[in-house]
Amino acid sequence: MNQPTTYGLIALQFLFYRLTIAAPNTTVVAINTTVAAPNTTIDVPRVQYYFFDDNYHLMDENNITISGNKTLIVLVHGFRSSPWTGVVADLGKSLVQWTNSNVVLVNWSKWTQKMDYTDVVVRLPTVATHLVDWLNGLHDRGIIQSFDDVTMIGHSLGAHLIGYAGHRLNGTIKRIIALDPAQPNFKDSQKNERVDVDSGQFVMVLHTSTMFLGLREPVGHVDFYFNGGQMQPSCNSDTVCGHVIVLNYLADSLKNSSEFKAYRCHTLSDCEKKIVDNKEPTIDMNINTPNSTRGLYSVLPSKKNLKIYSRFFLK
Ligand SMILES: *[C@@H]1O[C@H](CO)[C@@H](O)[C@H](O)[C@H]1NC(C)=O
Ligand SMILES: *[C@@H]1O[C@H](CO)[C@@H](O)[C@H](O)[C@H]1NC(C)=O
Ligand SMILES: *[C@@H]1O[C@H](CO)[C@@H](O)[C@H](O)[C@H]1NC(C)=O
Ligand SMILES: *[C@@H]1O[C@H](CO)[C@@H](O)[C@H](O)[C@H]1NC(C)=O
Ligand SMILES: *[C@@H]1O[C@H](CO)[C@@H](O)[C@H](O)[C@H]1NC(C)=O
Ligand SMILES: *[C@@H]1O[C@H](CO)[C@@H](O)[C@H](O)[C@H]1NC(C)=O
Ligand SMILES: *[C@@H]1O[C@H](CO)[C@@H](O)[C@H](O)[C@H]1NC(C)=O
Ligand SMILES: *[C@@H]1O[C@H](CO)[C@@H](O)[C@H](O)[C@H]1NC(C)=O
Ligand SMILES: *[C@@H]1O[C@H](CO)[C@@H](O)[C@H](O)[C@H]1NC(C)=O
Repeated sequence: MNQPTTYGLIALQFLFYRLTIAAPNTTVVAINTTVAAPNTTIDVPRVQYYFFDDNYHLMDENNITISGNKTLIVLVHGFRSSPWTGVVADLGKSLVQWTNSNVVLVNWSKWTQKMDYTDVVVRLPTVATHLVDWLNGLHDRGIIQSFDDVTMIGHSLGAHLIGYAGHRLNGTIKRIIALDPAQPNFKDSQKNERVDVDSGQFVMVLHTSTMFLGLREPVGHVDFYFNGGQMQPSCNSDTVCGHVIVLNYLADSLKNSSEFKAYRCHTLSDCEKKIVDNKEPTIDMNINTPNSTRGLYSVLPSKKNLKIYSRFFLK
């Protein structure tokens, strides 16, 4: 990966991302590092944003450098998880290594670790507000030129979080990648309360555990059903593994963009039975799947050595 020659310099104030700042100029942006006092009347825990350099070193929070011309990828973890959870961290690292983008990992684990699942679901709009404010802040300061430069990736509850945030940004985010969006509490929810096609300009969804934890219904512009969407070959019958392995799948597709051939399946039932239409061209499931892709696809992942996928456990 090329080291960017020009950097914007920004300093982040993590609490509520309320920055006082000089107007951005060209590609170098200097931000006043004065930290505003947190608004204690707002009953919300911290959301943190971690920026990485091209060598996956965490940047000093007072000295963030991002390349003005690169796209931004925002990765959001799920319930009982954090940016430092093995598989999430691995995907973050792969994004830094294999894409030419600025990568940010969002830490909202204060919400996802202490509260009950349904409490977090109820508060999702509040967390989405943080995310939206933060993105608007980057945009207002010229750190990102437009939401056309932004890809958001979310796992499980994080998939609904970015979906919700995407609605609030009027669907302007270029690409939303929903990794096995959570099913509990979302099965019958209104489409504006979860990830759906209006969350971004292009919404791709990967389904890997539709029996219990993951949403079964197609909700994106394109929906990929891995191994019928139900049980994953590397997971035997471990449901949590099936829900989490989707992070490994996306990471694998960064390393090898043709790792996951996707075959057209015409109905959800066909996808689940792995009945595919061989007359239609196959596509590659990866972070660059063309934004014109529509409909349902079946992917048949091979069984991998479990050791490769051993970092499942959510901390
Ligand atoms: C960023 O984009 C501008 C305008 O497109 C260009 O002039 C400049 O060289 C680019 N900088 C880098 C580091 O690619
Ligand atoms: C913005 O850039 C221009 C040209 O590089 C420079 O003359 C001007 O002083 C800069 N403004 C600020 C506020 O830094
Ligand atoms: C930074 O912001 C604080 C608070 O608004 C202000 O008092 C201070 O003068 C600013 N510093 C600079 C260098 O702009
Ligand atoms: C703090 O948050 C409350 C509740 O949202 C709001 O009414 C108040 O104006 C905020 N105060 C400041 C200083 O931002
Ligand atoms: C900020 O980071 C850049 C790039 O890592 C480094 O060259 C520079 O010395 C740092 N500045 C400060 C004040 O730490
Ligand atoms: C993420 O946020 C939680 C809650 O604020 C905090 O305890 C934890 O240290 C943070 N994680 C990292 C890796 O900094
Ligand atoms: C979304 O639409 C609202 C209402 O029209 C507008 O105020 C807001 O600026 C828009 N936001 C974006 C990111 O387009
Ligand atoms: C990428 O994956 C495909 C499908 O498994 C395989 O045929 C191909 O050899 C792999 N390419 C590389 C460079 O590993
Ligand atoms: C879709 O992708 C093409 C090629 O990358 C790009 O030119 C076009 O602007 C994209 N359209 C949307 C709506 O993002």
